[in-house]
Amino acid sequence: MTQDELKAEVGRAALQYVQAGEVVGVGTGSTVNKFIDALASIKDQIAGAVSSSEASTERLRAIGVKVLDANAVERLSVYIDGADEIDGQGHMVKGGGAALTREKIVAALADRFICIADASKQVQTLGRFPLPVEVIPMAATQIARRFAAKGGQAVLRLKDGAPLVTDNGQHILDVTGLAIADPLAFESEVNQWPGVVTVGVFAHQKAAVCLLGTEQGVQTLEF
Ligand code: 5RP
Repeated sequence: MTQDELKAEVGRAALQYVQAGEVVGVGTGSTVNKFIDALASIKDQIAGAVSSSEASTERLRAIGVKVLDANAVERLSVYIDGADEIDGQGHMVKGGGAALTREKIVAALADRFICIADASKQVQTLGRFPLPVEVIPMAATQIARRFAAKGGQAVLRLKDGAPLVTDNGQHILDVTGLAIADPLAFESEVNQWPGVVTVGVFAHQKAAVCLLGTEQGVQTLEF
């Protein structure tokens, strides 16, 4: 099975967590796009969605799902999103699609984070995938120096030759060379560096469930 087919399988499998009459939290990325495709089949049964990016909002609206402002919602029962890495405890690295800040905000509204991922995303220790960090542009260099002191190399993410600008008007550093042995402590530490908007470690908002696409079918991991 191709990676695309595995993503489609977990996207469809995630429908079982969507409750009729409720608002669903929706992430960002190619796996979530498969979930949104599947959601089209039950769009009339849900009250709407809170979206984590302009890209997902556009897709949700295109299939006829009402998109609510996160401020209009007190809680969500589930938030469904992909990941760039997930470890054996449900800690994740996210932000490959530059939507990490809004993803963390919507995830924080939800009782349960349902991660949908193909098996290539499973790791023993977070850090193989370059860690995305959304930063205020004037702080980028000092934040890069802080990562260098930890053995990491931070590179400004570019798009079409210029710094990528997120939905929040900020920049992204991608950090290689890290082995994140204690994701909770790492997330807490980096979060308080001046100029960090969001670090792409999701340990405080870790997955409750991961639907993992494998050659043997969809595995359900509970954390
Ligand atoms: C976007 C994300 C995505 O969930 C992550 O990059 C995985 O993407 P994909 O499903 O395309 O592999 O964090 O900011």
